[in-house]
Amino acid sequence: MKGVILAGGLGTRLRPLTSVTNKHLLPVYDKPMIYYPIQCLLNAGIVDILIVTGGEHAGDFLKLLKNGKELGIRHLEYAYQEGEGGIADALRLAEDFADGEKICVILGDNIIEKNICKAAGNFFTQSSGAKVLLKEVPDPKRFGVVELDGDKVVGIVEKPENPPSNLAVTGIYFYDNDVFKMCNSLEPSARGELEITDVNNFYLKRGDLTYEVLEGWWTDAGTFESLHRASEFVVHSGANHTD
Ligand code: G1P
Repeated sequence: MKGVILAGGLGTRLRPLTSVTNKHLLPVYDKPMIYYPIQCLLNAGIVDILIVTGGEHAGDFLKLLKNGKELGIRHLEYAYQEGEGGIADALRLAEDFADGEKICVILGDNIIEKNICKAAGNFFTQSSGAKVLLKEVPDPKRFGVVELDGDKVVGIVEKPENPPSNLAVTGIYFYDNDVFKMCNSLEPSARGELEITDVNNFYLKRGDLTYEVLEGWWTDAGTFESLHRASEFVVHSGANHTD
């Protein structure tokens, strides 16, 4: 399985910090943010990685990561997303890299305490489809949220006014190769983006979306509050570096 880290966007919510570099290169405690999703993939044995980025500061990734060898990446590629088309738009750029294989996709600002080894192993043996990782959150309105019937997911709603549960869809996803067909068939949402939630709902309707609830803490880091929280979590628990 190959890994794709989505690290584009303008990071407008973190200005002026993001006026001089990409959001995913800002520090989370003692490391650039992008190190955490990279380590998350490496911990799961995923060593072929594509970073999709964009904007004015894309060159900073190369300066920092070079060919990725120092971090233990076997093969590192970069792709450049033009414009602000959303997560599913960025993912389209990974089609050649995936080359027919299953992929694990992680948003570059998602940081977790534990690891995704069990989920990755389970997805490896899943014959087709997708898997999402969920986490209980106190503020579900900020995320994609699942609607459950018993323990069955019956729908996913993006940033709902009235969340049907407090289980957020984290920014860690597993997909088979059909994901590219789905991304290419999407229409932009009201916010003008191709939504990853629409992709996940496609798989749900098709009947091969599975899920697992993530162990340990999870946070995004795209606002000052969550960026600060991410650093605090890391300081207090030494996030996903070794386990
Ligand atoms: C994105 C997804 C959302 C998901 C979240 C996780 O939101 O659209 O479904 O719950 O990432 O971090 P965004 O960061 O674009 O607001």
